[in-house]
Amino acid sequence: MQLEVNIIGKHFENAAGEHHDVLAGIKFTLQAGEVGVFVGPSGCGKSTMLKILTGLDHDYQGEVSRPATARLGMVFQEPRLLPWRSVEDNIRLAEPHIDEKRLSELFAILELTEHRSHFPGELSLGLARRVALARAFAIEPDFLILDEPLASLDDALAAHLRKQIATLVESRAMMTLLVTHNLDDAVYLGDRLFLLSARPARILQEVPIPTPRTRRSAAEIQHIKADLVRRRLAKT
Ligand SMILES: Nc1ncnc2c1ncn2[C@@H]1O[C@H](COP(=O)(O)OP(=O)(O)O)[C@@H](O)[C@H]1O
Ligand SMILES: [Mg+2]
Repeated sequence: MQLEVNIIGKHFENAAGEHHDVLAGIKFTLQAGEVGVFVGPSGCGKSTMLKILTGLDHDYQGEVSRPATARLGMVFQEPRLLPWRSVEDNIRLAEPHIDEKRLSELFAILELTEHRSHFPGELSLGLARRVALARAFAIEPDFLILDEPLASLDDALAAHLRKQIATLVESRAMMTLLVTHNLDDAVYLGDRLFLLSARPARILQEVPIPTPRTRRSAAEIQHIKADLVRRRLAKT
């Protein structure tokens, strides 16, 4: 299973009819079992790109081909849970046939077991994000999209959730695309990083990380991060 993307351009027009370029040159492929991470500044066009990749937006120049049968799991920037349904029901709505064993396993990995019967309004942002992750994994996706899943969490919480995401990603050979502006997330979770320019976003550099995720030491992660910072400075 493979995703092939070649977005040449994407623009929006505002009410005054002015043309705003948002995406310029996004060309890459992604294989099953790979985690591709897009790193780019806020407002550069990342969420716009993801919308195109999921098939929600057809108004762009270029082409995107993803296997027709691929099951898509999506974690949006906002958790988007149904407020009048419990945590468990939010997940069962996405995957009505999920068996109890799989559900308990997911809740255990994401430390949600004690929150099963809570309603979204009772949850912190970190907890709501974990429910959104559980919902995405419940459908056993072939193609997983994570749009800034760790944004607005404090460092300790983000680090904790990052580990949980790593565990989930290792559990299934999916095509995974993560979008972030945080280098820790990128280096900890990614197999291949794509550094994006400011708007209109284009890929400035593709950076593979050869060491498997589970074998990256803290020292290596620091080293790769420092290298990324140098690359970014060299480009600006
Ligand atoms: N539906 C829309 N109509 C007009 N402009 C939009 C729309 N969606 C996004 N934009 C603009 O496109 C740019 C990129 O937005 P977005 O893809 O959300 O950025 P990112 O996710 O990288 O922060 C922003 O300048 C935003 O204002
Ligand atoms: Mg965004």
